[in-house]
Amino acid sequence: MRGVDRPIAVITGASSGIGASFAEQLGARGCDLLITGRREQILRTRARELKERFGVGVQVLVGELTDPAVRAGLSDTVRNLPRIDWLVNNAGYGRGVAFTDDEYEEQRSLLSVHVEAIMELTHAAVARMPAGGRIITVSSLAGYGVSRRSAVYCASKAFATSFTESLALELAPRGIGVLALLPGFTCSDFHRYEAVPKRNRGIVRWMPAETVVRAALRASDRGRIVCIPGGANRLLYLLMKLLPRTTVYRLMSGGVRKMLAGDTGHSSSHSTRPHPRS
Ligand SMILES: NC(=O)c1ccc[n+]([C@@H]2O[C@H](COP(=O)([O-])OP(=O)(O)OC[C@H]3O[C@@H](n4cnc5c(N)ncnc54)[C@H](OP(=O)(O)O)[C@@H]3O)[C@@H](O)[C@H]2O)c1
Repeated sequence: MRGVDRPIAVITGASSGIGASFAEQLGARGCDLLITGRREQILRTRARELKERFGVGVQVLVGELTDPAVRAGLSDTVRNLPRIDWLVNNAGYGRGVAFTDDEYEEQRSLLSVHVEAIMELTHAAVARMPAGGRIITVSSLAGYGVSRRSAVYCASKAFATSFTESLALELAPRGIGVLALLPGFTCSDFHRYEAVPKRNRGIVRWMPAETVVRAALRASDRGRIVCIPGGANRLLYLLMKLLPRTTVYRLMSGGVRKMLAGDTGHSSSHSTRPHPRS
């Protein structure tokens, strides 16, 4: 896949939404790409388009990241690349089911994508990353929130943010930039099964995935460690940080929870509903 001196970017979950936008914007920066996802046909079409538009090499790796063998295979592939200039840990999904109402195995699987895949891939990639390399982990504002129907989602995103912040300190002396991206309500396939209309209401402001990714790359270029894209999302973040926790619990259990349900309560792309493979 590799052109002579082109940088290499590895992006998980690039078949749609935020990951697809990262593939486009890093392709536009002249990176050769390794993109992953489960919907093979969509991924291969995207790969063809990216090659044509940007003249870069694109390698596709199709696999279910809840599967330890797939995660190990992806890590091996990454270790065998000549170098990695960008790693974007993006793949993720919601269950939209209360922890105790769901099969335990489904909840554990969610954790394996949001926690184990990020750890494994980051560990593998850093070994191949020169000074100037970048790691972006797509976490969520939900990591600061609480939810009656997304306990593991919120907890795993809290892990992703905290892990990434510490890693930024760890890797700074090696000249590697590390960024946690904390989107709020973002238009993507994440919400494709929700009946709720995606309209702006009160503090809820939906953002296009391209805008979120542009903000992330700009923040990474500036050496930031955390990026919360969009003014409304930054206000939400402040409210979650500054309000007494008991107030946050009350709000998230009542009407405000419904209003804020986009990323924290009603999504599933895994197995509560059939997953489109193409
Ligand atoms: N959309 C939002 O409102 C929002 C807000 C905050 C944070 N986020 C985070 O942003 C990230 C990207 O989500 P998105 O909004 O762009 O949603 P999306 O359009 O559904 O994209 C998710 C990507 O992750 C891949 N993926 C999901 N589960 C996977 C699994 N088990 N194994 C392998 N690949 C898997 C999907 O691939 P396939 O579909 O091909 O399997 C897809 O490419 C996620 O980490 C999500 O938690 C989203």
